[in-house]
Amino acid sequence: VKYSGDTPAKKIARYAIWLRVKELLGPRFQTGTHVVLLSSEAGDVSTLLGLGVHPHHIVGVDIDVHAIAASRHKFPEIRCLKEDVAAAVRQLKEEGQSPASVYLDFCGSMKDTTVGKAIEVTGYMDAGSVLALGVKMGREMGDWAEDVNTAKAMGSTSVDSRAFYLRADLMTRYLFTKSNGQRLRAEPLDYYRYNSTRVTGEHSAMLVCISRLSAKPELKSKPLESAVKNARRVEHHSIIADYQSIGPLASRLAEQGEDAHLLLNIQKESIPPFKAHRTRGTYDSARPRVVRNKRPS
Ligand SMILES: C[S@@+](CC[C@H](N)C(=O)[O-])C[C@H]1O[C@@H](n2cnc3c(N)ncnc32)[C@H](O)[C@@H]1O
Repeated sequence: VKYSGDTPAKKIARYAIWLRVKELLGPRFQTGTHVVLLSSEAGDVSTLLGLGVHPHHIVGVDIDVHAIAASRHKFPEIRCLKEDVAAAVRQLKEEGQSPASVYLDFCGSMKDTTVGKAIEVTGYMDAGSVLALGVKMGREMGDWAEDVNTAKAMGSTSVDSRAFYLRADLMTRYLFTKSNGQRLRAEPLDYYRYNSTRVTGEHSAMLVCISRLSAKPELKSKPLESAVKNARRVEHHSIIADYQSIGPLASRLAEQGEDAHLLLNIQKESIPPFKAHRTRGTYDSARPRVVRNKRPS
């Protein structure tokens, strides 16, 4: 699947997701290794640097040679591996550098090469580490499409929210039931959704799962029951942002002394004009929001 690059909502989602990973890892966020998928944007590298992670603690991976070349050019201090992400994480484990976090920000929908790949990656991670997994909502194929349709037929909430909850539930169930042979399970803690609209008019709804690697015996012995319990506990968040949301956030972060351009993967030169708008009060009504969804019982 071809990746068409950043959108404003993606920038804000990326920042929100890494803040959550930081919170979950505590001090290990600064000392551990983080593995990310690059693309030629290397947006996650930018956000991690903005959050103060040392460049030597970031490993960027991609199977695409152009993505690797562009990322090396943009961030020369980062270690870049041109290989399948599961092979890369296995290599790190063999080197004694088991990652604190892995963010698999895929461009494809839920399928074996995305969620299945995430399970493969968990085989080389340690308990307590964090796995984030991003996929497109919609365009599922085969068994995945069938499962989505069954869940849709049973649903009762609004169409938009239902699309989110049912895919989140499906992903949790898959993570618990298809991880046979793995030592640990990725246990979802949060699901995020955001809508990306590109200048071309192309629209995609994204789903991101943040999970923690767990050795809890019941996740293995009672996967379906555990998935139902998890669905009640897990938090669902909607990120509401568009191109008007970047300026207010960037200028606020810059005023707080943060590296806003790195955190949001934007040009450094755009920060002063954003700040000027803020001073003039242009931004009063355009803040991005992360809304916690209350799931109907
Ligand atoms: C959505 S892009 C990543 C965007 C990036 N995280 C960012 O924030 O800018 C996904 C990238 O993952 C790469 N990719 C997909 N499957 C992969 C795999 N199994 N191993 C390594 N790279 C993979 C694709 O070539 C693509 O460049």
